[in-house]
Amino acid sequence: MYDHVIDKNIFPTFVCSCIPQIDMMEVLEEVYQTQLDYKTENLSNEGGYHSPKFVGTRFLKLRNVVEEFCNDILQQKDLGLNVQTIEYWCNINKSYNYNVMHSHGRADLIGIYYVQVPPGSGNFVVMRNDGSQYCDLYENRADMLEYITEPEVGRLYVYPGYLWHYVTGNNSEQDRISVSFNILT
Ligand SMILES: [Fe+2]
Repeated sequence: MYDHVIDKNIFPTFVCSCIPQIDMMEVLEEVYQTQLDYKTENLSNEGGYHSPKFVGTRFLKLRNVVEEFCNDILQQKDLGLNVQTIEYWCNINKSYNYNVMHSHGRADLIGIYYVQVPPGSGNFVVMRNDGSQYCDLYENRADMLEYITEPEVGRLYVYPGYLWHYVTGNNSEQDRISVSFNILT
C-alpha cells in the first residue's frame, strides 16, 4: 500500500502548425524556378533536388510568415527569445527518393512547409533521442518512440531543432515538394 502519489510529465516536446495565408502556387513555381537556377546539394536527401540555402532572397512571403509564426510560438511558450536568422531551402523528392535520419545542427527551431504532397509520397518521422530507444520501457508503445506526421499540403510545421528526423520514401509517381527552414534565435 502507498499514498500521496505524485505523477508528473517532464521534458515535453512539441510540434506547432498553421496554414500560411500565401499563394501556394506561387511557391510551387518558385521551387521549380529555383531548380533551374541552382544545382542540387547532396545532404540528407537520397536522390531528388535540394537547393542551396537562402537567407532572404527567395520565398519572401513564406519566409515572413515563418518568422511571425515562430516569434508567436516562442512568446506563447514563454521562452524569452526572438527569431534572429532564418535560412531555408527547397526540396523536390521524386519517386523512391527519401531523406535519411538527421538533425539540423545549431537550429533552435525547424520548419517545413508542404507545397505538394501526393498520396503515399512519404511521412515526416521524428525520433526521440534521449536514450529511450535503448531500453524496453516503451517497447509496447511505438508512439512513445517515434512521432509520425502525415504532411498536409499547404501546412507549415514547426518543431524544436534538436529533434532527429527522417522522411520515408516517395512511393508515388509525382514530386513531393517542401520548403525547409532553420530558425535561429
Ligand atoms: Fe530535416
